Amino acid sequence: MLRALGLTTAAIGLLSFVSIAQADPLAPTGKWSAYQGGSATTPPMGWSSWNSFATDITEAKIMGVADALVKTGLAASGYRYVNMDDGWWQKRRQPDGRIQIRIAQFPSAAVGSAEETSFKPLTEKLHAMGLKAGIYSDMGRNSCSQAYSPGVPNLAEGSVAEREIGLYGHVDQDIALYMKDWGFDYIKVDGCGLRAFTADNPIVKSGQFRELTPLIDGWNINTTDVTAVRNLYTEVGTALARYKPNGDFIFSLCAWGSADVRSWAKDVGSISRTSDDLSPHWVRMLYNFDTAVTRPLYAHPKSWNDPDMLYVGAGDFDGDHLTEARSHFALWAIINAPLILGNDVRTMPKALLDIVSNPAIIAINQDPAGNQAVLAYDAQDIQILVKTLASGKKAVAVFNRGLAAVDADLTAQHLKYAADKDIVLTDLWTKKKITFKKETKLALAPRQTLIFEAEGTRQLQNGLYLSEMPGSVNPAVDGVQIPQPDPTLFRSQPWGGTHGNGAHPQYAGWGGAQADYTPFGQSLRVAGESFDSGIGVLANSRLEVRNNGAKTFTTEVGIDDSSPDKTHPVSFAVYGDGKLLAQSKPTRFREKAETLAVNVKGVKIIELVARNDATPIMQPTVVTWGNAALTK
Ligand code: GLA
Repeated sequence: MLRALGLTTAAIGLLSFVSIAQADPLAPTGKWSAYQGGSATTPPMGWSSWNSFATDITEAKIMGVADALVKTGLAASGYRYVNMDDGWWQKRRQPDGRIQIRIAQFPSAAVGSAEETSFKPLTEKLHAMGLKAGIYSDMGRNSCSQAYSPGVPNLAEGSVAEREIGLYGHVDQDIALYMKDWGFDYIKVDGCGLRAFTADNPIVKSGQFRELTPLIDGWNINTTDVTAVRNLYTEVGTALARYKPNGDFIFSLCAWGSADVRSWAKDVGSISRTSDDLSPHWVRMLYNFDTAVTRPLYAHPKSWNDPDMLYVGAGDFDGDHLTEARSHFALWAIINAPLILGNDVRTMPKALLDIVSNPAIIAINQDPAGNQAVLAYDAQDIQILVKTLASGKKAVAVFNRGLAAVDADLTAQHLKYAADKDIVLTDLWTKKKITFKKETKLALAPRQTLIFEAEGTRQLQNGLYLSEMPGSVNPAVDGVQIPQPDPTLFRSQPWGGTHGNGAHPQYAGWGGAQADYTPFGQSLRVAGESFDSGIGVLANSRLEVRNNGAKTFTTEVGIDDSSPDKTHPVSFAVYGDGKLLAQSKPTRFREKAETLAVNVKGVKIIELVARNDATPIMQPTVVTWGNAALTK
């Protein structure tokens, strides 16, 4: 073909070289590749029907909550998305496939004959109240309630084809209807239709539902078709861009941490679930929190980790458990989780309203720099999380996970502040101030989270460590070749109960890039030299860094002492807007870290590439970008 076009052999050679070079995922692109669609410049805030009503939803309930959001002042505090979850579908009309709404539950959707339903009146009402409207669908042909909850109210009705209300095979048609014609601003796309409708499932065998060869294996990443799942969700993103050309939408992916979403969802949608459903139990909150807390580098303005909706107001987080409710809320806020309430706002006790309306904590979550908090101290009983704010100040949460009262030492080092200068903490619940130098001891009640704003003298005075600005660092390629479940998660029994032989996390995040830790949760150390600050990542990775006006990038690079692979040398390269700025010599295990210092004045995107020549990869090589920092 190329020859038929009259190209010479040399030109063909050049073309194939170019296409090989383009295929190299470590080749610099000069671009920021994480998701830029949609409107989630800060984590979305709002309410969802699921935790209070499950599929038993009606227009009266939805509008009642919408009214309450306005009357309580929650809307003014930022909770503006009103999201309908599962339970609104009547059927997919045949033969044209247009989706119909349950008009018995949603009277305003009856805009003509029973065949002509529309949510436009509902979204217009919400918009007129200054609110936004959210809808729910599934990536497969069928929904989660159809898969797992026979007998619940409001399941879709009719023939097998009429009950296929999911997006599969209808992406363009449904997204146009929901987002353009009906005017929704938010869509959550669940994944049960891609995992549950196996040939041997009794609901498929009995002929109630069509088989869909599962693309997601909830139990095993190895038998999940990651590319196919990614392609389907990408198709939705493309349709959203087509039908919401002004970009005013939120695309919420709900694949519960399966299908290796850690590595790609940040490139595809606005928020992505990192775990299975939260329930109103303390231990379940720990599990969901753990799936997101070590992933600050995977959260950026317009694409956030989603450990699921808030359960403030129920079970272990109800009005009789205010310590737990405060912890849950403060933790979600500081890790930049979407703040989506799940309680019935119409009947909300004042004490709970005060928690979720706390303006200082909301401001931490909505801080424009978009830095998810980084773990400054990590243990099974206590964790200290620090988040760098746009103002340069910090937010810090000290979290007692356990049932015993404990003391925690908060040090200047945790905050990356100078130890010999005053540090001032402001408690965001009580407004009380604590001033200290070097360190202070904090008493924590069982399950308590103290959350402060902190001001002090920065150790690095004229810039930021990259680990302080994870919202501007994107692991475009994180080097994980064999995704594995994260063994450090707190594993509580799943919502289905203690069937089977244990709780197996789906979140294949183990080995992903980490701020101030190695990808396997160790301290950063190269040839005996420890680094309190830095990025830990596997070799054969490429990190994109947004430069916000800094002049110099400096780092000390080497193979980490904890690296499983000790034989293959690694070379480190720094690019500025696609051009090579500096390169290390190939470095070996136990060799001293090499300093790289480059001028990045005027550079927009810096790329950090660590390569080794190990093929096939038998063991991962852990590398450290020690003290990686941008300075003025
Ligand atoms: C899944 C999701 C939940 C909710 C239900 C609805 O379980 O993870 O958040 O949307 O489906 O059926």
